[in-house]
Amino acid sequence: MLLSQILLCVACFVLTESKTKNIYRQEVRKFPDQMLFGSATAAYQIEGAWNEDGKSENIWDRLSHQDPCRITECHTGDIAANSYYSYKRDVEMIRELGLDFYRFSLSWTRILPTSFPDKINEKGVEYYNNLINELLTYNIEPMVTIYHWDLPQKLQELGGWANPHIVDWYTDYARVVFELFGDKVKYWFTINEPRQICDMGYGTAVFAPLLNESGYADYLCSKHILLAHAKAYHLYNDEYRSKQGGTIGIVISASWLEPESDEHTEAAEDARQFEWGIYANPIFSEKGGFPEVMKQKVALKSMIQGFPRSRLPEFTPEEVEFVKGTSDFFGLNHYSSSFVYRNESVYGYHREPSLNDDVSVISYEDSSWEGYHTKMVPWGFYKLLTKIREDYDNPPILIAENGYDSLRSLKDDDRVKYYRQYLDAVLDAIEEGSDIIAYTAWSLMDSFEWVRGYNVRFGLYEVDYESPERTRTPRKSAYVYKEIARTHTLDHNYEPDISVPLSIDEGH
Ligand code: BGC
Repeated sequence: MLLSQILLCVACFVLTESKTKNIYRQEVRKFPDQMLFGSATAAYQIEGAWNEDGKSENIWDRLSHQDPCRITECHTGDIAANSYYSYKRDVEMIRELGLDFYRFSLSWTRILPTSFPDKINEKGVEYYNNLINELLTYNIEPMVTIYHWDLPQKLQELGGWANPHIVDWYTDYARVVFELFGDKVKYWFTINEPRQICDMGYGTAVFAPLLNESGYADYLCSKHILLAHAKAYHLYNDEYRSKQGGTIGIVISASWLEPESDEHTEAAEDARQFEWGIYANPIFSEKGGFPEVMKQKVALKSMIQGFPRSRLPEFTPEEVEFVKGTSDFFGLNHYSSSFVYRNESVYGYHREPSLNDDVSVISYEDSSWEGYHTKMVPWGFYKLLTKIREDYDNPPILIAENGYDSLRSLKDDDRVKYYRQYLDAVLDAIEEGSDIIAYTAWSLMDSFEWVRGYNVRFGLYEVDYESPERTRTPRKSAYVYKEIARTHTLDHNYEPDISVPLSIDEGH
């Protein structure tokens, strides 16, 4: 064999291996010119000012003020990164990074303190107008999430996402924000991560509102979230799109679930359907509605358990049609992966209803994977992007979150490695035909990490919570991400000089 043939074979092997193992290519690779780069945050995680200027209480205010506290070290979002007062610095950071867009969320109770549109809080509206105007002054696209987990406490007391009336409550709120900001906002996300809202808030007691009613409340929540999203989508489509000219979609979180061995292929597919197919199938599949495997499994278990009907609520045929196709893009949040195997019996032999029992799988992270809360498994991202392309007829994918938590340090080489390897996976998927329109690094800065408080840090910028103004300082990952966005190029060997302050380039 000629030397060139041997080298070619080695290259092919590395390329194929890279798609299943954590081996990554070292060459310099280009992103499509039109692909957008940005970064993201969410209102409760950064704004603070929890009860100022007319804002009322939401479910995370309530949870974080609970006694005994449920959040690491009893942290609260009361001040957070103080962005309510420091939004100009936030925009300055996006300018330093030279990004195309900033994805942030609106706080429902800051805009509508009664939860309903009978009273609009001028001060809250002014804050978001200031932020949006500041972004537009510097040609940064605002991408706005209408709802990122901070439900008005009052609506929770009425049942929250388990009450079907929330479909209208949410749509009323969406109408208000389209009216208020739609002339300036061209990218809308209806709801961020229904799974975290429903499974972790209603099915378990991990997130607010700590309902812990698995196998019932979580499914009700899923159905109402899908209907609320679809209703807001139709509202925008029918009444605002032609005059405001924007685009709108949902954001679904999906991990990659890999079978432990060939024997568990079906188990892994079931797990995917229960985790994110439940939201993707009704919107992006040709048939619509909840995934068949979920319908069958929950109906069977419900019957065995003595329920008169399936605990998974049905969509009427009209509702199936109403929800189908209601997203201009597949908004995707991805962080990590797990291995999956089938286990029918660990959850109490079907006596206690629960989503875990319904799906009957166990998932776990491999102990060799690098990482703290987020494990670094770039090949999982490649497989996930491929599956979305294949299952849903290659929808445009807007990566709305991807990121890594690391220790408090400005020299975050592990985060740099994560971003580079995950972006390599994105490029692999693009090469095979995935239509990836944007990439969003989570997060612009350290923020309130929900029940894990402030000790878990995802930021491109470090936030000093001891300083009254919550000083933000760029980490090494910020320098590297800036170079990727500026050049639309992934170069694993680029070494920034982090002793030189990150400054705003001309034109930003
Ligand atoms: C959420 C963010 C969160 C991030 C990291 C995502 O699921 O949308 O709010 O900070 O995960 O935990």
